[in-house]
Amino acid sequence: MLFLQQQWLRQRLFVLGSLVLGSLFFLVAREGTLDRLQLICPIKDKLSPAGSSGQIPLHTLQRKQALHLKLHRRNSTREQLRMHHLIKQLPRAIIIGVRKGGTRALLEMLSLHPAVVKASQEVHFFDNDENYDRGVDWYLKKMPFSFPHQITIEKSPAYFITDEVPERIFKMNSSIKLLLIVREPTTRAVSDYTQVLEGKERKNKTYNKFEELVIDTKTCEVNTKYKAVRTSIYTKYLEHWLKFFPIEQFHIVDGDHLITDPLPELKLVEQFLNLPSRISQYNLYFNATRGFFCLHFNFMFSKCLAGSKGRIHPDVNLSIKEKLQRFFHPFNQKFYQITGRTFNWP
Ligand code: A3P
Repeated sequence: MLFLQQQWLRQRLFVLGSLVLGSLFFLVAREGTLDRLQLICPIKDKLSPAGSSGQIPLHTLQRKQALHLKLHRRNSTREQLRMHHLIKQLPRAIIIGVRKGGTRALLEMLSLHPAVVKASQEVHFFDNDENYDRGVDWYLKKMPFSFPHQITIEKSPAYFITDEVPERIFKMNSSIKLLLIVREPTTRAVSDYTQVLEGKERKNKTYNKFEELVIDTKTCEVNTKYKAVRTSIYTKYLEHWLKFFPIEQFHIVDGDHLITDPLPELKLVEQFLNLPSRISQYNLYFNATRGFFCLHFNFMFSKCLAGSKGRIHPDVNLSIKEKLQRFFHPFNQKFYQITGRTFNWP
């Protein structure tokens, strides 16, 4: 009798053990390695975003997204939000541009970090007079809920090229951190053109060829009146920003590098923002169909950027392309000199 009971117990233990092992194998197979699950492991390091040095409570980090979603979906009351210590905070870092540099990808990738909360929409507070006149309280209301130890980041690429913006941001927070993501200037100009072209085509409108817009037909020189050309003269805008902020408050992100190998760029941003290194290779995977890196939030949730990111560019006449590259060359040299970051641009 005793022998039968022992055998029964052994069988049960064996089934239970197999179940545990099976689940473990499933997770490992799905995630590649156990390291991949590191985001749900305890976080020991201290976090010191912009001067604060508080420890991030583990449970708040883990619940970050779930709680946000739950509270938003349930249309929660102020009381509930206060109970969960959720507040709205002005951004401590802003992605100021540049348009078509990869601003969306940068923001989304940074939001993989448990201490970063992103404003999903472009707020256009500092570049739009009507919004700016609504005051900083309006701006604050546009920010997402966050825990006090988290930092809020927003992106509005028009900030970089709008004259009034640096002074306005300075008035709000003179020690704010500024992220600028740039791409090889000619490619950026083509990307800019492609976006406008797609908009025209959607409205069944015709549009000039890129070559017709970038070259002044009277002088046969590069047409600096064309906005897509002007925006790629990064040094011109950066010099204006430097009248308000020292260069140390800027971090330049290589947008071309963010496309091909995002992790090293993200690590540099984490350092710049004084955040502990949390974004890992397991948060990013290359999606061959999309042709870009996509985001892996945890072993269940992943997402790629919308189809409006990564459009196919039209072919550009080679001699026009080279002319543009020659035109941007001296401005690029100056940009490297000012920022201390050199790119392999022609
Ligand atoms: P293209 O559409 O020219 O390829 P922005 O968000 O500032 O408008 O920049 C858009 C650019 O982000 C896209 O330009 C694309 O190349 C780039 N990008 C960088 N990383 C990306 C990613 N992971 N997924 C999609 N696009 C990405």
